[in-house]
Amino acid sequence: MKIAIDGTAASGKGTLAKRLAECLGCDYLDTGLLYRAVALEALRYGLSSLDDNFNDPLTKKLFEKSTRIELTTIALGLALPIADSPDLRSQKISSLAAIVASLPEIRQALIEKQRNFANSPPSKKGAVLDGRDIGSVILPEADFKFFIDAKPEIRAKRRFAEFKDTNSNQKQETILKDLIERDKRDSTRQIAPLKLLTDAFFIDSSSLNADEVLQIALNYING
Ligand code: DC
Repeated sequence: MKIAIDGTAASGKGTLAKRLAECLGCDYLDTGLLYRAVALEALRYGLSSLDDNFNDPLTKKLFEKSTRIELTTIALGLALPIADSPDLRSQKISSLAAIVASLPEIRQALIEKQRNFANSPPSKKGAVLDGRDIGSVILPEADFKFFIDAKPEIRAKRRFAEFKDTNSNQKQETILKDLIERDKRDSTRQIAPLKLLTDAFFIDSSSLNADEVLQIALNYING
């Protein structure tokens, strides 16, 4: 079984994907971690500052041909699944990952890895992948497709609560601004933009907790 879950940043798609995989005995792949891992390497490879626009030195460097070749090599060398870590979740890496994810050669380098995981999951039972282009590009043949969204203010509030647990001093307004910026980049980029597909089941998680979202998804799967 293959399940594709796409949606906006901090919409709860990762939580749903993880919990669905547990319930169904499938394997879970967080595909955002692939772009984050390439971004982390980009930061090590490049410069140390990144602001919110495309004019900073690192972003400019990302668009240089030699850097893109280097990044593609990094992407091709990634071994799945990527181990999650706080380094991969920082605000800077989140912003940079959205930029890295807009480079066509990076996306191309990661397609086969994601498909191989879904076609040969370790459990042999199935795979749940979450990201932005899973239903549209990676697994258009998925048995079930979901699209998860929530109001930006609610997503920012949830992210703020998560960051607070990890002692980060991020402000909620900054998180909201960053989420809106990332959503814009993810859904307006030329290649594999985030979009609601006609064959995806839409869940607005604004007023739902994780248990309720899971139950709605399971009801849909079980018909
Ligand atoms: O889901 P996330 O926030 O960890 O994703 C990090 C970035 O990578 C985000 O800007 C969207 C991008 N991404 C993507 O373009 N395609 C995917 N399948 C997964 C993530």
